[in-house]
Amino acid sequence: MYNKKSVMALILLVAVVVLYPFVKSAGRSAEPPAPSLDTPAINLLAEKACIEDAAYMRENHMQILNDWRVQSVRDGATVYTARDGQEFPMSLEESCLGCHSNKGEFCDTCHTYSEVEPNCWDCHVGGN
Ligand code: HEC
Ligand code: HEC
Ligand code: HEC
Repeated sequence: MYNKKSVMALILLVAVVVLYPFVKSAGRSAEPPAPSLDTPAINLLAEKACIEDAAYMRENHMQILNDWRVQSVRDGATVYTARDGQEFPMSLEESCLGCHSNKGEFCDTCHTYSEVEPNCWDCHVGGN
C-alpha cells in the first residue's frame, strides 16, 4: 500500500531528476569563460586585433583553421590574406599560437566550457 511519506519522496525524486539539467545549465551560463589575451605577442600589438574581427573569429575560427589545413596541405598555400588586406602565415602554430601562446587560458578555456575537444594537439604543439 502507498503511504504519504513514500509518495512525497517519489515526487521529490522525480522533481530533482527532471530539474537537474536546467539547474546545471543555469549555473554554467552564469559564468561564461573569459579567454585571456595577456600574452607577450598580443601585448606588443599597437592595435589589439585578431586576423579578423573578434565576433567573426568566435563564429568562424574552426572553419578558418579547416580551410588553412586543406589549402596548405593540399594546395601548398602559405599565406592568408585577411579581409583588411593584412597577411598572416597559414599556420596554426605560427599564427594562432604565435599570438595566443597561452593556449590553456585561451583556446582551452572556451573549449572546456563548450565541451569540445579538438584533436589538433595530438600532433600540433600547443604549449600550455
Ligand atoms: C596578430 C595576433 C593574432 C593572431 C595571428 C591570431 N589572433 Fe586571435 N585574437 C587576437 C586578439 C588581439 C584578439 C582580441 C580581439 C578583440 O577583442 O577585438 C583575438 C581574438 C580571438 C578570438 C575571439 C576571442 C573572444 O574572447 O571572443 C578567437 C576565437 C581567436 N582570436 C582565435 C584565433 C585563431 C584560431 C587564430 C588563428 C587562425 C588567431 N586567433 C590568430 C590576436 C591574434
Ligand atoms: C570564445 C571561445 C573560443 C576560443 C577563444 C577558442 N575557441 Fe575553438 N571553438 C569554440 C567553440 C564553441 C567550438 C565548437 C564550435 C562548433 O562545434 O560549432 C570550437 C571549435 C574549435 C575547433 C573545431 C573542433 C572540432 O572538433 O570540430 C577548432 C579546431 C578550434 N576550435 C580551434 C581553436 C584554437 C586553436 C583556439 C585558440 C587559438 C580556439 N579554438 C579558441 C570556442 C572557442
Ligand atoms: C594526425 C596528426 C594531425 C592532427 C590530429 C592534426 N594535424 Fe594539422 N597537420 C599535421 C601535419 C603532419 C601537417 C603538415 C605539416 C607541414 O606541412 O609542415 C599539418 C598541417 C596543418 C596546417 C597547415 C600548416 C601549419 O603549420 O599549421 C593547419 C592549419 C593544420 N594542420 C591545422 C590542424 C587543426 C586545426 C587540427 C585539429 C582540428 C589538426 N591540424 C590536426 C598533422 C595533424
